[in-house]
Amino acid sequence: MAFTPYSAPSTSDTSPVIGEINDDTQWPIYNPRRKPGQTVYVITGANRGLGLALTTTLALRPSTVIFACIRTFTADTTEVLTSLPVGHDSYVAPILIDATVPLHAKLAVETITHRHGYDHVDVVIANSGISDYYGTAAETPLEALRTHLEVNTIGPLALFQAFLPLLKKSSNPKFVAMSTGVASMTEMEAMQVMPMTAYGASKAALNYIVRKLHFENPEVCCWVLIPGWVRTEMGNHGAEVVGMERAPMSLEQSVEAMLEKVRCSNQ
Ligand SMILES: NC(=O)c1ccc[n+]([C@@H]2O[C@H](COP(=O)([O-])OP(=O)(O)OC[C@H]3O[C@@H](n4cnc5c(N)ncnc54)[C@H](OP(=O)(O)O)[C@@H]3O)[C@@H](O)[C@H]2O)c1
Repeated sequence: MAFTPYSAPSTSDTSPVIGEINDDTQWPIYNPRRKPGQTVYVITGANRGLGLALTTTLALRPSTVIFACIRTFTADTTEVLTSLPVGHDSYVAPILIDATVPLHAKLAVETITHRHGYDHVDVVIANSGISDYYGTAAETPLEALRTHLEVNTIGPLALFQAFLPLLKKSSNPKFVAMSTGVASMTEMEAMQVMPMTAYGASKAALNYIVRKLHFENPEVCCWVLIPGWVRTEMGNHGAEVVGMERAPMSLEQSVEAMLEKVRCSNQ
């Protein structure tokens, strides 16, 4: 199946600034939207699919701040997020993160601390991902595997490494990454029909890394969520590849179940 190598968009985009920072700036910076008791989320891939659905649902809660990370930072993409309805003392702030540019996660931490004035993050959801090559292992271009590893495996690890200091300052920190049943070794026999070598391998490696994070960072609750086979661009495309009309699960069902897991999880 045709494979178009992934190319990262320009990194010259800048994150939004709340007020000018200069020599007279008082720290922490004044942010009128920062209120005591807010729960602070970071969600990557927040412009569409599961990331947007999670952001939309969480934003309706009171005292909730969502740093909604997107890789294409334009007036249109940010407006979709900043115009979402929000609960009392809640807001959504778009931030640039391309998973293939580890520096972006570090810059996002700077933006959250220095420009928004937060000293902690409660929940990081490493949601962004790709599944854009379908084929058997024998025919998978090596470059396809590399790009899947870059976005689906290395990106979430870079995110964790950058956000660990802010997570450690939360009273109940959580790091969640999106995985898939396709990455399961034990389920592989039943799923032979799924020609998803590059995607499955990148998510299997993600599972390993997140499990390592779980044991190595006992103060942070780290785990992977499997959202189900959901009607997003990725989910529906996968369904078409195996001859189905669309993915079986609705966004609402998936998001409700995932947020319940996030709510009741603890280390
Ligand atoms: N849908 C399912 O059935 C299903 C099942 C199991 C697991 N998952 C996982 O759930 C997560 C979300 O999937 P989805 O169904 O919502 O997929 P989707 O509709 O295809 O959305 C993917 C999201 O990831 C972003 N993204 C892709 N490459 C990126 C990069 N290099 N840097 C930053 N963001 C990037 C996309 O941004 P752009 O718009 O800029 O491309 C988009 O926001 C993924 O990790 C996926 O593997 C999904």
